Amino acid sequence: MPRAAELAINGGKPAKTTPYGSGPKHIPAEKEAVCKVLDRGQLPFSRGPEVMALREKWAKMYGATHCITASSGTAAIHTAIGALGIGRGDEVITSPITDMGTLIAIMAQNAVPVFADVDPWSRNMTPESIAAKITPRTKCLLVVHLAGNPVDMPAVMKIARQHRLKVVEDLAQSYLCSYKGKLCGSYGDFGCFSLNDSKHIGAGDGGMVITNNGRLADLAELFADKCYDRSGQGRLPFMVGYNYRLNIMAAAVALEQIKRVRKLTDTRNARGEKLSALIADAPGVIPHRVLPGAKCTYWYYLLGLDFSVLKCHAVVFAQALTAEGVPNWLDTGTVLNWPLFAERRSDPWACSFSCPLYEGEVDYSLDSYPGVKTAITSQVRLQLNEWWTDKDVKDTAKAIRKVAEYYAA
Ligand SMILES: Cc1ncc(COP(=O)(O)O)c(C=O)c1O
Repeated sequence: MPRAAELAINGGKPAKTTPYGSGPKHIPAEKEAVCKVLDRGQLPFSRGPEVMALREKWAKMYGATHCITASSGTAAIHTAIGALGIGRGDEVITSPITDMGTLIAIMAQNAVPVFADVDPWSRNMTPESIAAKITPRTKCLLVVHLAGNPVDMPAVMKIARQHRLKVVEDLAQSYLCSYKGKLCGSYGDFGCFSLNDSKHIGAGDGGMVITNNGRLADLAELFADKCYDRSGQGRLPFMVGYNYRLNIMAAAVALEQIKRVRKLTDTRNARGEKLSALIADAPGVIPHRVLPGAKCTYWYYLLGLDFSVLKCHAVVFAQALTAEGVPNWLDTGTVLNWPLFAERRSDPWACSFSCPLYEGEVDYSLDSYPGVKTAITSQVRLQLNEWWTDKDVKDTAKAIRKVAEYYAA
């Protein structure tokens, strides 16, 4: 057990003394690809060659029959929810630990988000909690695979089949993650991705939608393209379609980025698994929980803290770990704490849970979500990425063990 003075926060030598590996998000080939587009002297605003090539590559990567491009991850999810005809009074079950983009897709359709609880050590919504939230108004399960980590999709699909529900997978944070050998995104009616620049791969902004259903693909195309039928049938809008078209220059960047995505996600997976193995027997810490048979591609790494073993506050643990040379932050985020839900401040322009056509009752009180409560008080995030070296992983594990062993004593 380390003595108090040995902790870096008390003036001892940090466990990690070298900087983490790092590298550029964008490479010269992307600049060349954008210049090539500009050199043609025109920027086609709908389905230019780079947009179509990106769609083809993406569909192939996921073994999907159809791929639609969108201007953001939010737009991609909204397109899927819109194409499924989700609307006023409908409930969509989703995760209370996610980005605003997931919720926008539901609420912009005047549908009502109903939250499933999460497993605290993965922060992923659980099939049991999803099943418990189903009502006669439930139309769709919007499954968020958080931080590269697969939700138990076979169990989710079984529930969906039993209740005849549509399934949309939000993979904004979860490129190329899989469960029992099947890629997440290929389970549900739609798989949706974000190309915002913070994600595994990025193009500034952008979004992708995949599906194996031709009819849904056609509807999604119309929804994301102001109801233009580009197959030559003209334009006879029968619903409100949005302008969610992907900019061709972003498509050119994404086409280059996609060349790296497999290696990058494999590396993140290997680094995350190694870190989990190295801290598996450290006292009072819980490695990022990944289902057996799942491949997690770690958009970040979640380190769980077990306060029945650790005799310190989460803030103290986080600060001690930072002092050891491992940057981290306490991840306290849940949408349940947003005024929109905590105070039921219904969007004045949207219908959603205050809609007179909605006949249900929502429960957005944090106390009803024990998994979320544990997650937001007992986890720190580590910015694991593909640039981490083997030494970075070992030093990080050493630092975690040092802090954990001290506070567990
Ligand atoms: C889980 C999740 N869903 C949706 C989105 C929305 O993506 P975008 O920012 O591209 O609109 C994000 C982005 O942060 C996300 O993390």
